[in-house]
Parts: sequence; structure tokens; C-alpha cells
Amino acid sequence: MAFWNRRRSIDVLTAPREGPALKKTLGWPHLIALGVGAIVGTGILTLIGVGAGLAGPGVMISFALAGLVCACAALAYAELSTMMPAAGSAYTYSYAVLGEMFAWVVGWSLILEYSLVVSAVAVGWSGYAVGFLEGLGVALPTALAAGPHVEGGLVNLPAVFIIAVVTGLLLLGTRESATLNAVLVVIKIAALVVFVAIALPAFNPENFSPFLPNGFGAPTLPFQEQLFGIAPVQTGVMAAAAIIFFAFYGFDAISTAAEETKNPGRDLSIGIVGSMVICTALYLIVAAAAIGASPPAAFAQSEEPLAFILREMGQGTAAQWIAASAVIALPTVLLAFLFGQSRIFLGMSRDGLLPRGLAKVSNRGVPVVVTLFTAVVVAGLAGIMRLDELASLANAGTLAAFFAVGLSLIVLRLRDPNRPRPFRAPLFWVVGLITMVGCLVFFFSLRTQTQVWFLIWNVGGLAVYLAWSAWNSRLAKGEETQA
Ligand code: ALA
Repeated sequence: MAFWNRRRSIDVLTAPREGPALKKTLGWPHLIALGVGAIVGTGILTLIGVGAGLAGPGVMISFALAGLVCACAALAYAELSTMMPAAGSAYTYSYAVLGEMFAWVVGWSLILEYSLVVSAVAVGWSGYAVGFLEGLGVALPTALAAGPHVEGGLVNLPAVFIIAVVTGLLLLGTRESATLNAVLVVIKIAALVVFVAIALPAFNPENFSPFLPNGFGAPTLPFQEQLFGIAPVQTGVMAAAAIIFFAFYGFDAISTAAEETKNPGRDLSIGIVGSMVICTALYLIVAAAAIGASPPAAFAQSEEPLAFILREMGQGTAAQWIAASAVIALPTVLLAFLFGQSRIFLGMSRDGLLPRGLAKVSNRGVPVVVTLFTAVVVAGLAGIMRLDELASLANAGTLAAFFAVGLSLIVLRLRDPNRPRPFRAPLFWVVGLITMVGCLVFFFSLRTQTQVWFLIWNVGGLAVYLAWSAWNSRLAKGEETQA
């Protein structure tokens, strides 16, 4: 088989591994907690402001659209992860269904996603931490509290700090404990519920008018102005949806727990779809309450929009409580994604697509080199870059991975219809196509600059693949039987 097209065999991939199996202890409530723990974060706490700035009250539609595309991607994930429970990520599904070169692009895009989510969430954390400290009467100098894009800013030190702390925990071999995760999930949800309870009584319907101040927007091709003379529209509902998309992902973290799940067919699907539904409903209510309490233009620029809205309402204590909850609970998102990042590296190096030395783990079971290298890069980016730029580029990587998952769902149904599927996504054509078309439209609704960076990242990646990985993968060397 041509090198770009060689595929891993699903039978080999899912064959029982040698060595002790992980204990099957998790049920769907654990998985929902795991999902909501990784999903609820900087997206709803901070990017809601960026989205409202782009779309005005129409950001409600952006939330619904991003939720719809992610729910379809979640169904596709649920089907694939229950078919290949030991495999765990879009990269592996693509390797088995779409072939090695596609899998490389997906893996390389996931590296971008996981890294930049860590940077973005750290910047979001910093916004709430700085506000919280100010509430206590401790003001950090601007030079150390924001990157150079802010007047007087130099480096976002709190963002660098929290990445250093989470990296330290990972190097010590900390895995998220299910109990601690559940406690932190309750804290996050409670903070959002408190926000809604205080903001809703101040609901002013006039804040919803005009509903679409910047219109719907339209997808933009890179260089379309230079090539076709059509000026890009980079505001409106679609531009906001492309960034708000950030708030919804993280449910893929659940699929990595497949091996430890008691009844994967039932629990994984309830876990993945359930956490999506809960988050979409919660986000819509929070967005409605936020806009009802404050015109979008007022909180769009804030680094901590939900706390800002409460402070403007004279609810300083509640604002401090929201900020404290963010400070305590957001690091779980960082932990989940930094951990996920090392998993992707490990997967790719075990498959021979990246040097195997990278897969070396310490006696605490931690890939030290990969973790430290990633941490230094993401901390550097978090120190100097803007939140919306980081989140947009992370979204570009995720959109590529979700596109591949939607495509894999359809291709595998057609190619191998009789393989047992513990969970079958309903209306697979519809689910797969909404995922794929949604991802394409969101990608082209991102800023041109983001699209170009994403292309540069993947052209670089493909050069590495063609120069090295295509010749050194386990499949290339005949070390594993191909499909
Ligand atoms: N969905 C995660 C967040 O919003 C990445 O922080």
C-alpha cells in the first residue's frame, strides 16, 4: 500500500495488551464529571466576552451553532471510541480509518491544539487571578500582569506561574484523581449557577437589541482580498462561533478513559453526549444572563467578564467568589490538556512517527523530556500572546481533528458496516456531514492570520513527515501488520 495510505489494523489496535490491564472502575457519572471537568473553563469564563464583542447579543446563536457541531462530533467520537476503546484519540482513529498521512496531520494538529489550549487557559486563569488579588487590595504592576499587546504590559507572569505549577504536579506523577476532579467540577458549576442566580433578576431585554449589530458574517478564504478583491468579514455570529467553539471541547478527554470504563458501550456514550448536553444548556443560560445584565459592549474587553459584570452590579463579594472558583478550578483543564499533550506525543512516537526517544518515561511513569519541552514553549506563548489569538489557533487544530473524526465515522460505516459497534451514532450521514461541514465553515470563519499560521504549522509538519516519519513508522518498517 502507498505510504500515505497505509492503515493500522483495528484488530491489532484493539487486541488485548500484554501486562496488567487497567481496573474497570468508572461508570457514566464519573465520565460526565471527567468531561465537564475538561470542558468548562476559559471558554465560558472569558471568551464569552470576546464572542460578545464580535457578535453582540447574537453570540447566543454562536453558542448554539458551536454546541450543535460539537454534539455531532461527540456522537462520532462516542461511536469510534467504543469500537476502539483502548485507542483513545482522533489521531489513532484516523490512523486506522484514513491512513498514515491523514493521521499525521491530525496528530500534528492535536499537538497544536493541546499546547495552545494550555497557554490560552493559563491566560484566562491569569485574568481572574489578577482580578481576585485586586479585590483583596493587592495590585500587580501591569508590566508583570499582561503581555506586550497591552499598554505598559511586558509579560503575563501569573499565566507563566500557573503553567509551572501544573507542570510540577505532572512531573511528580499526579494524575487527576476522580474525587478531586468531581469536587472541582461542583465548584465550577456552582460558580456559574451563582452567577446566573444573581444576574438574571437584573435582566434587561433592551440589552438584546440590536440582536445582530455585526450581522451573521461569512467564511473567509486566506488571501481572498488579494486574489478575488472580496474584503474579509471577520466579525459577526460566525466569527464568534469559531472562537466560542473553544468553550465546548475537552469531551474527547473522556475517550482516553475507555479502558477503565465498566460498560464502554453504554457509559462512554452517556458520558460523552451527556457532558455535551449539560454544557450547552449551561452556556446558553450563562450567556443569556450575562447579556441580560450588561450590554455586550460593556464586558467585551474585560479579562474576567463574569466577575466584571457582577462588580458593575455592585455584587463585589459574589465577583470575588467567582474569581476564586476560577482560580481553584481552572487548573484541572490545564492538567487534562498538558497530560493529553504528552499522550499524543507518546502515541506518535510509539508508532514510530516521532523519534522513539521521546517516548521515554521516568520511573514515575512521566515522559519528562516531552512534558518539560512543551511546558517551556506554552509558558513562553502564554507570557506574551493574546488570549483570543491563542484560542483561535487552538481551535484551528481541534477543527482539523474533529473533521477527521466525522470523516472516519462515515468511511468506516461504509467500509466495514458489520464490525460490532457498542454505540451507533444515529443518522450517521447527518452526524458525520454536520461535523465536517461545521468544522470547515468554522475554520474559514477564523481570522485569516490564524488560518495562515495553521497552514504554516502543517506544511512544516508534512515536511517532517515526508523527510523522516514516513520512512520510520512501525508500519513502514513492517513491525506491525497493516490493515
Ligand atoms: N473547553 C475548555 C475551556 O473552555 C478548553 O477552557
